[in-house]
Amino acid sequence: MANKSKLVKFAELANMHNVFEKKPVLKGKWKTDFFKNSAPIIIELACGKGEYTIGLAKLFPEKNYIGVDIKGNRIWSATRIVNIENLQNVCFIRDQIDHLNEYFIQDEVDEIWITFSDPFPRDGDHKRRLTSKKFLEIYKQFLKKDGLIHLKTDSDLLYNYTKEVLAEFPSKILKDYTDVYAMNKNEELHNIQTYYEKMHLKNGLTIKYLCFQLL
Ligand SMILES: C[S@@+](CC[C@H](N)C(=O)[O-])C[C@H]1O[C@@H](n2cnc3c(N)ncnc32)[C@H](O)[C@@H]1O
Repeated sequence: MANKSKLVKFAELANMHNVFEKKPVLKGKWKTDFFKNSAPIIIELACGKGEYTIGLAKLFPEKNYIGVDIKGNRIWSATRIVNIENLQNVCFIRDQIDHLNEYFIQDEVDEIWITFSDPFPRDGDHKRRLTSKKFLEIYKQFLKKDGLIHLKTDSDLLYNYTKEVLAEFPSKILKDYTDVYAMNKNEELHNIQTYYEKMHLKNGLTIKYLCFQLL
């Protein structure tokens, strides 16, 4: 039941085989000990209720997906769907993204998705944005050398800020769309919409997308 109390949900989370709560026990061993294959690992940061992670996992069942968020309530909702649909190529980490270097070794992650993360509009908060230099340094510690980072956002502020950061950080922008839905159809970008994306589209906002590599 989706209306269980938070306490019940948190107790259930602690026993789920596909949720890792503040436990970096699989560092370097995600493929051998959890997914039991050698397929690429794609992580989604700030995954919320996991719509993007789950959408991608269904589109590409041959790849492995890990959603990351700090909010237990949201991770519970995401895992509920994964368990109902018996998806074997998905799991979740409940922790601060700031700690992700404790979960993965160098080159363990092939791609990173950042979908509709908070833009943190106040100037003093810019380090909390998931594309700040501080976070890019963390991702460099586990993302493959030619690995891709995808940013999908409604926020002009976050989109422009990310381009400014990348202009100063060794990196290469591969795709830069100012309006995703004005572009040619791309199933990864068009076919999956999170709760926040639907809300922003309803409010008439355009959705921006950057795909880049860290050099
Ligand atoms: C605006 S919601 C977006 C959720 C989802 N991507 C979507 O589109 O529906 C932002 C999410 O980022 C998570 N978040 C923000 N900063 C975080 C951090 N440093 N570590 C882990 N989660 C974080 C919040 O808990 C929240 O669920």
